[in-house]
Amino acid sequence: MTTAEATRTGEAKLAHDDDAVDLPVVTGTEGESAVDIGHLRAETGLITLDPGYGNTGSCTSAITFLDGEQGILRYRGYPIEQLAERSTFLEVAYLLIYGELPTRAELDGFIDEVTRHTLIREEMRHFFDSFPTDAHPMAVLAAGTVSLSTFYPDAQQIFDPVAVEITIKRLIAKLPTLAAWSFKKAIGQPYVYPNNDLGYSANLLHMMFSVPSEEYEVNEDVAKALDLLLILHADHEQNCSASTVRMVGSSHANLYASISAGISALWGPLHGGANEAVINTLERIVADGGNVQKYVDRAKDPDDSFRLAGFGHRVYKNFDPRARIIKAAADRVLRATGADDQLFEVAQRLEEVALHDEYFVERKLYPNVDFYSGLIYRAIGFPKNMFTNCFAIGRLPGWIAQWKEMIESRETKIARPRQVYVGAAEREYVSIEQR
Ligand code: ACO
Repeated sequence: MTTAEATRTGEAKLAHDDDAVDLPVVTGTEGESAVDIGHLRAETGLITLDPGYGNTGSCTSAITFLDGEQGILRYRGYPIEQLAERSTFLEVAYLLIYGELPTRAELDGFIDEVTRHTLIREEMRHFFDSFPTDAHPMAVLAAGTVSLSTFYPDAQQIFDPVAVEITIKRLIAKLPTLAAWSFKKAIGQPYVYPNNDLGYSANLLHMMFSVPSEEYEVNEDVAKALDLLLILHADHEQNCSASTVRMVGSSHANLYASISAGISALWGPLHGGANEAVINTLERIVADGGNVQKYVDRAKDPDDSFRLAGFGHRVYKNFDPRARIIKAAADRVLRATGADDQLFEVAQRLEEVALHDEYFVERKLYPNVDFYSGLIYRAIGFPKNMFTNCFAIGRLPGWIAQWKEMIESRETKIARPRQVYVGAAEREYVSIEQR
Protein backbone atom coordinates (compact mmCIF):
# COMPACT_ATOMS: atom_id res chain seq x y z
CA MET A 1 0.00 0.00 0.00
CA THR A 2 1.39 3.43 -0.85
CA THR A 3 0.40 6.62 0.91
CA ALA A 4 -2.70 8.34 -0.35
CA GLU A 5 -1.76 11.76 -1.58
CA ALA A 6 -3.71 14.88 -0.64
CA THR A 7 -5.67 16.52 -3.44
CA ARG A 8 -4.60 19.90 -4.76
CA THR A 9 -7.56 22.18 -4.17
CA GLY A 10 -6.29 25.71 -4.69
CA GLU A 11 -3.54 28.17 -4.17
CA ALA A 12 -2.38 30.53 -1.45
CA LYS A 13 -0.51 33.72 -2.23
CA LEU A 14 2.49 34.80 -0.23
CA ALA A 15 3.62 38.39 -0.74
CA HIS A 16 7.16 39.21 0.33
CA ASP A 17 9.06 42.41 -0.48
CA ASP A 18 7.93 43.20 -3.99
CA ASP A 19 7.40 39.59 -4.97
CA ALA A 20 4.38 37.34 -4.67
CA VAL A 21 4.41 33.60 -5.00
CA ASP A 22 1.57 31.11 -5.47
CA LEU A 23 1.72 28.12 -3.19
CA PRO A 24 -0.41 25.03 -3.76
CA VAL A 25 -3.09 24.29 -1.19
CA VAL A 26 -3.81 20.59 -0.66
CA THR A 27 -6.80 19.09 1.13
CA GLY A 28 -7.16 15.77 2.94
CA THR A 29 -10.11 13.39 3.24
CA GLU A 30 -11.66 15.18 6.21
CA GLY A 31 -11.30 18.66 4.73
CA GLU A 32 -8.13 19.82 6.49
CA SER A 33 -6.11 22.01 4.16
CA ALA A 34 -2.43 22.76 4.08
CA VAL A 35 -0.18 25.12 2.17
CA ASP A 36 2.48 23.07 0.41
CA ILE A 37 5.70 25.03 0.93
CA GLY A 38 7.96 22.42 -0.72
CA HIS A 39 9.18 24.94 -3.35
CA LEU A 40 9.07 28.06 -1.17
CA ARG A 41 12.80 28.33 -0.59
CA ALA A 42 13.68 27.61 -4.20
CA GLU A 43 11.33 30.35 -5.37
CA THR A 44 11.78 33.01 -2.68
CA GLY A 45 14.79 32.10 -0.52
CA LEU A 46 12.44 31.88 2.47
CA ILE A 47 11.92 28.96 4.81
CA THR A 48 9.15 28.63 7.38
CA LEU A 49 9.83 28.79 11.12
CA ASP A 50 7.65 26.71 13.45
CA PRO A 51 9.32 25.65 16.72
CA GLY A 52 7.72 22.46 18.06
CA TYR A 53 6.10 21.91 14.61
CA GLY A 54 2.73 22.96 16.05
CA ASN A 55 1.62 24.19 12.65
CA THR A 56 3.59 21.94 10.35
CA GLY A 57 2.35 18.87 8.53
CA SER A 58 5.36 16.60 8.06
CA CYS A 59 3.63 14.10 5.78
CA THR A 60 0.36 12.94 4.34
CA SER A 61 -0.96 9.88 6.13
CA ALA A 62 -3.89 7.49 5.75
CA ILE A 63 -3.57 5.87 9.19
CA THR A 64 -5.17 7.97 11.91
CA PHE A 65 -7.49 10.94 11.85
CA LEU A 66 -7.98 13.17 14.83
CA ASP A 67 -9.87 16.39 15.28
CA GLY A 68 -8.74 18.09 18.45
CA GLU A 69 -11.57 20.62 18.47
CA GLN A 70 -14.30 18.01 18.23
CA GLY A 71 -12.55 15.26 20.19
CA ILE A 72 -12.56 12.77 17.31
CA LEU A 73 -10.08 9.93 16.96
CA ARG A 74 -10.31 7.29 14.22
CA TYR A 75 -7.94 4.53 13.17
CA ARG A 76 -8.22 3.91 9.41
CA GLY A 77 -11.63 5.57 9.55
CA TYR A 78 -13.04 3.52 12.46
CA PRO A 79 -14.06 5.57 15.54
CA ILE A 80 -11.97 4.79 18.61
CA GLU A 81 -15.16 4.28 20.65
CA GLN A 82 -16.23 1.38 18.37
CA LEU A 83 -12.81 -0.21 18.33
CA ALA A 84 -12.54 0.10 22.12
CA GLU A 85 -15.88 -1.63 22.56
CA ARG A 86 -15.73 -4.32 19.90
CA SER A 87 -12.17 -5.05 18.88
CA THR A 88 -9.04 -6.60 20.35
CA PHE A 89 -5.54 -5.18 20.44
CA LEU A 90 -4.10 -7.57 17.85
CA GLU A 91 -7.01 -6.91 15.52
CA VAL A 92 -6.41 -3.17 15.89
CA ALA A 93 -2.69 -3.75 15.28
CA TYR A 94 -3.57 -5.53 12.03
CA LEU A 95 -5.91 -2.71 11.04
CA LEU A 96 -3.31 -0.02 11.66
CA ILE A 97 -0.47 -1.83 9.92
CA TYR A 98 -2.29 -3.29 6.90
CA GLY A 99 -5.07 -0.74 6.49
CA GLU A 100 -8.19 -2.94 6.75
CA LEU A 101 -9.91 -4.97 9.44
CA PRO A 102 -8.81 -8.59 8.97
CA THR A 103 -11.08 -11.45 7.98
CA ARG A 104 -11.27 -14.27 10.52
CA ALA A 105 -8.64 -16.25 8.60
CA GLU A 106 -6.33 -13.22 8.30
CA LEU A 107 -6.64 -12.46 11.99
CA ASP A 108 -6.02 -16.07 13.02
CA GLY A 109 -2.95 -16.19 10.77
CA PHE A 110 -1.64 -12.92 12.21
CA ILE A 111 -2.18 -14.03 15.83
CA ASP A 112 -0.55 -17.36 15.04
CA GLU A 113 2.56 -15.74 13.57
CA VAL A 114 2.91 -13.17 16.36
CA THR A 115 2.48 -15.88 18.98
CA ARG A 116 5.21 -18.01 17.42
CA HIS A 117 7.83 -15.29 17.96
CA THR A 118 7.31 -14.38 21.62
CA LEU A 119 10.55 -15.93 22.88
CA ILE A 120 13.68 -13.82 22.88
CA ARG A 121 17.10 -15.28 22.13
CA GLU A 122 18.57 -16.89 25.22
CA GLU A 123 21.76 -14.79 24.92
CA MET A 124 19.64 -11.74 25.64
CA ARG A 125 19.17 -12.89 29.23
CA HIS A 126 22.72 -11.66 29.87
CA PHE A 127 21.75 -8.17 28.80
CA PHE A 128 19.15 -8.07 31.54
CA ASP A 129 21.65 -9.46 34.05
CA SER A 130 24.12 -6.69 33.36
CA PHE A 131 21.80 -3.71 33.83
CA PRO A 132 21.72 -2.22 37.34
CA THR A 133 18.77 -3.37 39.45
CA ASP A 134 17.33 0.13 39.61
CA ALA A 135 17.55 0.67 35.84
CA HIS A 136 14.42 2.36 34.54
CA PRO A 137 12.42 -0.22 32.54
CA MET A 138 12.06 2.26 29.65
CA ALA A 139 15.84 2.40 29.29
CA VAL A 140 16.00 -1.40 29.31
CA LEU A 141 13.14 -1.63 26.79
CA ALA A 142 14.77 0.83 24.39
CA ALA A 143 18.13 -0.94 24.69
CA GLY A 144 16.55 -4.40 24.31
CA THR A 145 14.61 -3.30 21.23
CA VAL A 146 17.59 -1.92 19.34
CA SER A 147 19.66 -4.94 20.33
CA LEU A 148 17.15 -7.22 18.56
CA SER A 149 18.75 -5.94 15.35
CA THR A 150 22.00 -7.68 16.37
CA PHE A 151 20.18 -11.03 16.32
CA TYR A 152 18.08 -10.40 13.23
CA PRO A 153 20.28 -8.63 10.66
CA ASP A 154 17.61 -9.26 8.00
CA ALA A 155 15.92 -6.17 9.45
CA GLN A 156 18.46 -4.15 7.46
CA GLN A 157 16.55 -5.13 4.31
CA ILE A 158 13.96 -2.42 4.75
CA PHE A 159 12.73 -2.63 1.14
CA ASP A 160 12.31 -6.41 1.18
CA PRO A 161 8.65 -7.10 2.07
CA VAL A 162 9.45 -10.57 3.45
CA ALA A 163 12.12 -9.22 5.80
CA VAL A 164 9.86 -6.34 6.85
CA GLU A 165 6.98 -8.72 7.62
CA ILE A 166 9.04 -10.98 9.88
CA THR A 167 10.50 -7.93 11.64
CA ILE A 168 7.01 -6.59 12.31
CA LYS A 169 5.85 -9.92 13.78
CA ARG A 170 9.01 -10.26 15.86
CA LEU A 171 8.63 -6.79 17.30
CA ILE A 172 4.97 -7.19 18.27
CA ALA A 173 5.71 -10.61 19.73
CA LYS A 174 8.85 -9.76 21.66
CA LEU A 175 8.15 -6.31 23.10
CA PRO A 176 5.97 -7.68 25.95
CA THR A 177 8.68 -10.23 26.78
CA LEU A 178 11.34 -7.51 26.91
CA ALA A 179 9.07 -5.28 29.00
CA ALA A 180 8.18 -8.02 31.48
CA TRP A 181 11.79 -9.11 31.84
CA SER A 182 12.92 -5.56 32.54
CA PHE A 183 10.47 -5.60 35.44
CA LYS A 184 11.53 -9.05 36.70
CA LYS A 185 15.13 -7.85 36.65
CA ALA A 186 14.20 -4.82 38.76
CA ILE A 187 12.49 -6.88 41.45
CA GLY A 188 15.01 -9.73 41.45
CA GLN A 189 12.57 -12.44 40.36
CA PRO A 190 13.28 -15.13 37.76
CA TYR A 191 12.38 -14.25 34.19
CA VAL A 192 9.10 -15.88 33.16
CA TYR A 193 8.90 -17.31 29.65
CA PRO A 194 5.89 -16.52 27.47
CA ASN A 195 2.97 -18.93 27.48
CA ASN A 196 1.69 -19.16 23.94
CA ASP A 197 -1.64 -20.61 25.06
CA LEU A 198 -2.56 -17.19 26.40
CA GLY A 199 -3.84 -14.15 24.54
CA TYR A 200 -1.56 -11.16 24.00
CA SER A 201 -2.49 -9.11 27.07
CA ALA A 202 -2.99 -12.16 29.27
CA ASN A 203 0.50 -13.31 28.34
CA LEU A 204 1.97 -9.94 29.36
CA LEU A 205 0.25 -10.28 32.76
CA HIS A 206 1.56 -13.84 33.06
CA MET A 207 5.17 -12.82 32.33
CA MET A 208 4.92 -9.84 34.69
CA PHE A 209 3.17 -11.32 37.67
CA SER A 210 3.64 -15.10 37.77
CA VAL A 211 6.52 -16.85 39.53
CA PRO A 212 7.74 -20.39 38.79
CA SER A 213 6.89 -21.57 42.32
CA GLU A 214 3.15 -20.87 42.16
CA GLU A 215 0.18 -21.31 39.90
CA TYR A 216 -0.92 -18.02 38.39
CA GLU A 217 -4.31 -17.57 36.89
CA VAL A 218 -4.84 -14.57 34.67
CA ASN A 219 -7.91 -12.55 35.63
CA GLU A 220 -9.77 -12.25 32.30
CA ASP A 221 -11.40 -8.93 33.28
CA VAL A 222 -8.00 -7.48 34.01
CA ALA A 223 -6.58 -8.85 30.73
CA LYS A 224 -9.50 -7.23 28.91
CA ALA A 225 -8.88 -3.90 30.62
CA LEU A 226 -5.22 -4.06 29.64
CA ASP A 227 -6.17 -4.90 26.05
CA LEU A 228 -8.43 -1.84 26.05
CA LEU A 229 -5.61 0.41 27.20
CA LEU A 230 -3.36 -0.97 24.48
CA ILE A 231 -6.06 -0.25 21.87
CA LEU A 232 -6.46 3.33 23.10
CA HIS A 233 -2.71 3.87 22.91
CA ALA A 234 -2.21 2.18 19.55
CA ASP A 235 -1.74 5.26 17.38
CA HIS A 236 -2.06 9.02 17.56
CA GLU A 237 -0.77 10.27 14.22
CA GLN A 238 2.28 12.56 14.17
CA ASN A 239 3.00 12.83 17.89
CA CYS A 240 6.52 13.18 19.30
CA SER A 241 7.39 9.45 19.31
CA ALA A 242 5.75 8.61 15.96
CA SER A 243 7.53 11.55 14.36
CA THR A 244 10.76 10.29 15.92
CA VAL A 245 10.19 6.82 14.43
CA ARG A 246 9.58 8.41 11.03
CA MET A 247 12.57 10.71 11.34
CA VAL A 248 15.01 7.97 12.33
CA GLY A 249 13.50 5.61 9.76
CA SER A 250 13.81 8.24 7.03
CA SER A 251 17.58 7.74 7.17
CA HIS A 252 16.85 4.07 6.30
CA ALA A 253 17.83 2.89 9.77
CA ASN A 254 16.19 -0.48 10.41
CA LEU A 255 12.83 -0.88 12.10
CA TYR A 256 14.25 -2.04 15.47
CA ALA A 257 16.45 1.07 15.63
CA SER A 258 13.57 3.33 14.62
CA ILE A 259 11.21 1.83 17.21
CA SER A 260 13.86 2.03 19.91
CA ALA A 261 14.16 5.76 19.19
CA GLY A 262 10.37 6.05 19.45
CA ILE A 263 10.48 4.33 22.86
CA SER A 264 13.05 6.87 24.05
CA ALA A 265 10.87 9.75 22.85
CA LEU A 266 7.84 8.27 24.58
CA TRP A 267 9.72 8.08 27.87
CA GLY A 268 9.66 11.85 28.47
CA PRO A 269 7.18 13.18 31.06
CA LEU A 270 5.67 15.58 28.52
CA HIS A 271 4.72 12.56 26.39
CA GLY A 272 4.15 8.94 27.50
CA GLY A 273 5.95 9.45 30.80
CA ALA A 274 3.04 11.60 31.96
CA ASN A 275 1.12 8.57 33.29
CA GLU A 276 3.86 7.98 35.85
CA ALA A 277 3.95 11.69 36.68
CA VAL A 278 0.16 11.72 37.22
CA ILE A 279 0.35 9.04 39.91
CA ASN A 280 3.28 10.85 41.55
CA THR A 281 1.17 14.00 41.69
CA LEU A 282 -1.91 12.20 43.03
CA GLU A 283 0.20 10.50 45.71
CA ARG A 284 1.68 13.86 46.66
CA ILE A 285 -1.78 15.37 46.99
CA VAL A 286 -2.99 12.46 49.15
CA ALA A 287 0.13 12.63 51.34
CA ASP A 288 -0.44 16.37 51.67
CA GLY A 289 -3.92 15.87 53.13
CA GLY A 290 -5.87 15.76 49.86
CA ASN A 291 -5.79 19.51 49.27
CA VAL A 292 -6.58 19.51 45.55
CA GLN A 293 -7.01 23.27 45.29
CA LYS A 294 -3.46 23.86 46.50
CA TYR A 295 -2.05 21.92 43.52
CA VAL A 296 -4.41 23.56 41.06
CA ASP A 297 -3.19 26.93 42.37
CA ARG A 298 0.43 25.85 42.03
CA ALA A 299 -0.17 24.75 38.43
CA LYS A 300 -1.60 28.20 37.68
CA ASP A 301 1.23 30.12 39.31
CA PRO A 302 3.52 31.48 36.56
CA ASP A 303 6.44 31.54 39.03
CA ASP A 304 6.04 27.85 39.85
CA SER A 305 7.28 25.31 37.31
CA PHE A 306 4.75 22.74 38.59
CA ARG A 307 2.26 21.52 35.97
CA LEU A 308 -0.68 19.22 36.45
CA ALA A 309 0.51 16.10 34.67
CA GLY A 310 -2.30 14.50 32.67
CA PHE A 311 -3.85 17.84 31.73
CA GLY A 312 -3.52 19.56 28.39
CA HIS A 313 -2.72 18.31 24.95
CA ARG A 314 -1.07 19.81 21.90
CA VAL A 315 -3.97 18.78 19.69
CA TYR A 316 -7.06 18.13 21.83
CA LYS A 317 -8.57 21.45 22.82
CA ASN A 318 -11.99 20.19 23.81
CA PHE A 319 -11.71 16.73 25.27
CA ASP A 320 -9.53 13.69 24.69
CA PRO A 321 -11.92 10.89 23.60
CA ARG A 322 -9.50 8.30 24.99
CA ALA A 323 -9.71 9.90 28.44
CA ARG A 324 -13.51 9.44 28.51
CA ILE A 325 -13.22 5.73 27.69
CA ILE A 326 -10.40 5.25 30.17
CA LYS A 327 -12.22 7.00 32.98
CA ALA A 328 -15.13 4.58 32.65
CA ALA A 329 -12.73 1.63 32.46
CA ALA A 330 -10.83 2.86 35.54
CA ASP A 331 -14.05 2.75 37.46
CA ARG A 332 -14.70 -0.87 36.35
CA VAL A 333 -11.14 -2.07 37.00
CA LEU A 334 -10.99 -0.53 40.45
CA ARG A 335 -14.22 -2.31 41.30
CA ALA A 336 -13.00 -5.63 39.80
CA THR A 337 -9.62 -5.56 41.53
CA GLY A 338 -10.89 -4.05 44.77
CA ALA A 339 -7.90 -1.70 44.62
CA ASP A 340 -7.66 1.19 47.03
CA ASP A 341 -9.42 3.97 45.21
CA GLN A 342 -8.24 6.94 47.25
CA LEU A 343 -6.17 8.17 44.30
CA PHE A 344 -9.13 7.73 41.94
CA GLU A 345 -11.24 9.83 44.23
CA VAL A 346 -8.58 12.56 44.33
CA ALA A 347 -8.21 12.33 40.53
CA GLN A 348 -11.93 12.87 40.07
CA ARG A 349 -11.91 15.86 42.42
CA LEU A 350 -8.88 17.29 40.66
CA GLU A 351 -10.61 16.94 37.30
CA GLU A 352 -13.73 18.60 38.70
CA VAL A 353 -11.84 21.57 40.14
CA ALA A 354 -9.65 22.02 37.05
CA LEU A 355 -12.53 21.76 34.60
CA HIS A 356 -14.27 24.66 36.31
CA ASP A 357 -11.23 26.79 36.87
CA GLU A 358 -10.90 29.79 34.58
CA TYR A 359 -7.18 29.18 33.95
CA PHE A 360 -7.80 25.64 32.66
CA VAL A 361 -10.99 26.56 30.80
CA GLU A 362 -9.34 29.51 29.05
CA ARG A 363 -6.37 27.43 27.95
CA LYS A 364 -8.56 24.47 27.02
CA LEU A 365 -6.69 22.13 29.36
CA TYR A 366 -8.61 18.88 29.73
CA PRO A 367 -7.60 15.50 31.15
CA ASN A 368 -5.65 13.57 28.52
CA VAL A 369 -5.20 9.84 27.95
CA ASP A 370 -2.60 9.62 30.69
CA PHE A 371 -4.72 11.13 33.43
CA TYR A 372 -6.62 7.91 34.17
CA SER A 373 -4.46 5.25 32.49
CA GLY A 374 -1.95 5.22 35.36
CA LEU A 375 -4.76 4.47 37.80
CA ILE A 376 -5.71 1.37 35.81
CA TYR A 377 -2.11 0.19 35.48
CA ARG A 378 -1.68 0.71 39.21
CA ALA A 379 -4.88 -1.20 40.03
CA ILE A 380 -3.69 -4.09 37.83
CA GLY A 381 -0.48 -4.19 39.85
CA PHE A 382 2.05 -2.52 37.55
CA PRO A 383 4.60 -0.41 39.41
CA LYS A 384 4.75 3.23 38.32
CA ASN A 385 7.94 2.89 36.35
CA MET A 386 6.34 0.18 34.18
CA PHE A 387 3.40 2.32 33.02
CA THR A 388 5.23 3.83 30.08
CA ASN A 389 6.50 0.38 29.03
CA CYS A 390 2.86 -0.68 28.73
CA PHE A 391 2.14 2.46 26.73
CA ALA A 392 5.04 1.56 24.41
CA ILE A 393 3.60 -1.92 23.82
CA GLY A 394 0.29 -0.31 22.94
CA ARG A 395 1.84 2.32 20.66
CA LEU A 396 4.00 -0.21 18.80
CA PRO A 397 1.51 -1.01 15.97
CA GLY A 398 1.07 2.71 15.35
CA TRP A 399 4.81 3.28 15.14
CA ILE A 400 5.13 0.30 12.79
CA ALA A 401 2.28 1.57 10.61
CA GLN A 402 3.83 5.06 10.49
CA TRP A 403 7.25 3.64 9.59
CA LYS A 404 5.81 1.32 6.93
CA GLU A 405 3.76 4.11 5.36
CA MET A 406 6.84 6.35 5.30
CA ILE A 407 9.09 3.70 3.73
CA GLU A 408 6.46 2.82 1.11
CA SER A 409 5.69 6.41 0.15
CA ARG A 410 7.20 7.87 -3.01
CA GLU A 411 7.18 11.28 -1.30
CA THR A 412 9.56 10.26 1.49
CA LYS A 413 12.89 12.02 1.80
CA ILE A 414 15.34 11.98 4.66
CA ALA A 415 13.84 14.20 7.38
CA ARG A 416 16.05 17.22 7.70
CA PRO A 417 14.52 20.46 8.98
CA ARG A 418 16.21 23.80 8.46
CA GLN A 419 16.87 26.53 10.99
CA VAL A 420 17.25 30.26 11.33
CA TYR A 421 20.75 30.79 12.64
CA VAL A 422 20.98 33.41 15.41
CA GLY A 423 24.53 32.78 16.69
CA ALA A 424 27.66 34.87 16.27
CA ALA A 425 28.47 36.25 12.83
CA GLU A 426 31.80 35.20 11.32
CA ARG A 427 34.76 36.08 13.55
CA GLU A 428 38.48 35.41 13.68
CA TYR A 429 39.89 32.59 15.80
CA VAL A 430 41.57 33.97 18.96
CA SER A 431 44.57 32.07 20.32
CA ILE A 432 44.16 30.74 23.86
CA GLU A 433 46.72 33.18 25.34
CA GLN A 434 44.73 36.14 24.10
CA ARG A 435 41.27 35.15 25.37
N1 ACO B 1 -0.76 22.39 33.94
C1 ACO B 1 -0.74 23.73 34.04
N2 ACO B 1 -0.64 24.56 33.00
C2 ACO B 1 -0.56 24.00 31.78
C3 ACO B 1 -0.58 22.61 31.59
C4 ACO B 1 -0.68 21.80 32.72
N3 ACO B 1 -0.70 20.46 32.61
N4 ACO B 1 -0.46 22.34 30.26
C5 ACO B 1 -0.39 23.53 29.64
N5 ACO B 1 -0.45 24.54 30.55
C6 ACO B 1 -0.48 25.98 30.24
C7 ACO B 1 0.89 26.48 29.84
O1 ACO B 1 1.64 26.93 30.94
C8 ACO B 1 0.54 27.60 28.88
O2 ACO B 1 0.11 28.68 29.66
P1 ACO B 1 0.43 30.20 29.18
O3 ACO B 1 -0.33 30.35 27.90
O4 ACO B 1 -0.07 31.04 30.29
O5 ACO B 1 1.90 30.26 28.98
C9 ACO B 1 -0.69 27.07 28.16
O6 ACO B 1 -1.32 26.16 29.10
C10 ACO B 1 -0.40 26.34 26.86
O7 ACO B 1 0.52 25.27 27.12
P2 ACO B 1 1.70 24.83 26.18
O8 ACO B 1 2.76 24.19 27.00
O9 ACO B 1 2.10 25.99 25.31
O10 ACO B 1 0.98 23.75 25.27
P3 ACO B 1 1.69 22.65 24.38
O11 ACO B 1 0.69 22.27 23.36
O12 ACO B 1 3.03 23.09 23.95
O13 ACO B 1 1.91 21.43 25.41
C11 ACO B 1 1.56 19.51 26.75
C12 ACO B 1 1.08 20.34 25.52
C13 ACO B 1 3.06 19.24 26.65
C14 ACO B 1 0.83 18.17 26.73
C15 ACO B 1 1.24 20.31 28.03
O14 ACO B 1 -0.17 20.53 28.13
C16 ACO B 1 1.74 19.62 29.29
O15 ACO B 1 2.90 19.84 29.69
N6 ACO B 1 0.89 18.77 29.97
C17 ACO B 1 1.35 18.00 31.10
C18 ACO B 1 2.10 16.76 30.62
C19 ACO B 1 1.20 15.70 30.02
O16 ACO B 1 0.13 15.40 30.54
N7 ACO B 1 1.65 15.11 28.89
C20 ACO B 1 0.94 14.02 28.23
C21 ACO B 1 0.34 14.46 26.93
S1 ACO B 1 -0.57 13.13 26.20
C22 ACO B 1 0.60 12.16 25.52
O17 ACO B 1 1.65 12.60 25.11
C23 ACO B 1 0.38 10.76 25.46
